[in-house]
Amino acid sequence: MLARGSQRRMDPTRGLPENTLRTSLRAALRGVSLPHRVVVHAIDGVAPGLYRSPDLSTPARAGAMRDELYRVSWEGGLARDAAFVVIAATDVGALDDREYREAHLAAGLVEGRLHLLAYGLGASASGMTFVDSEVPPFLGEQLDGLLFTCVGVPGYTSATGGPPGAPTEVRKVTER
Ligand SMILES: Cc1cc2nc3c(=O)[nH]c(=O)nc-3n(C[C@H](O)[C@H](O)[C@H](O)COP(=O)(O)O)c2cc1C
Repeated sequence: MLARGSQRRMDPTRGLPENTLRTSLRAALRGVSLPHRVVVHAIDGVAPGLYRSPDLSTPARAGAMRDELYRVSWEGGLARDAAFVVIAATDVGALDDREYREAHLAAGLVEGRLHLLAYGLGASASGMTFVDSEVPPFLGEQLDGLLFTCVGVPGYTSATGGPPGAPTEVRKVTER
């Protein structure tokens, strides 16, 4: 928890090991039935492309997607520069009110787990917004975006957090 800090810059020239991707997905999605998709930009041993988690064997769509995801995420540099981006998505029109709340709660839990896993595994993470109407065509399915989580190689090391009541002084870092 104390190692986790806001990460505003990820290093697009470096990737993450396959184990980081697999461990993150396995632990973050445990007990969660909400659909998640994964965009792999730079993972050793996994071809770049769009995958339907938990299947990492065959991409739903193969190829480099940094520029495409930059556009879909409303020019969010972190979605372009991350090593992988996890996308919680479901057909919200098919949900009743309770299911809609449950879907967002599940997406939030997964995002929180992905953050803690990333810092525990030596990576970094950030939430990311997106252009709603661009998500279904990007995924190639009638799935609406709920949350994007970018996981990547940190562009700098965050200061260690302080205990309650004594936060560490930090310097503002702007996005790339
Ligand atoms: C749902 C969600 C959407 C976000 N969207 C963006 C975004 O569009 N652009 C961006 O640079 N950061 C985005 N962030 C990252 C937040 O700016 C960042 O998480 C916030 O400053 C809290 O800091 P930390 O989680 O990095 O510690 C988003 C975070 C969440 C949880």
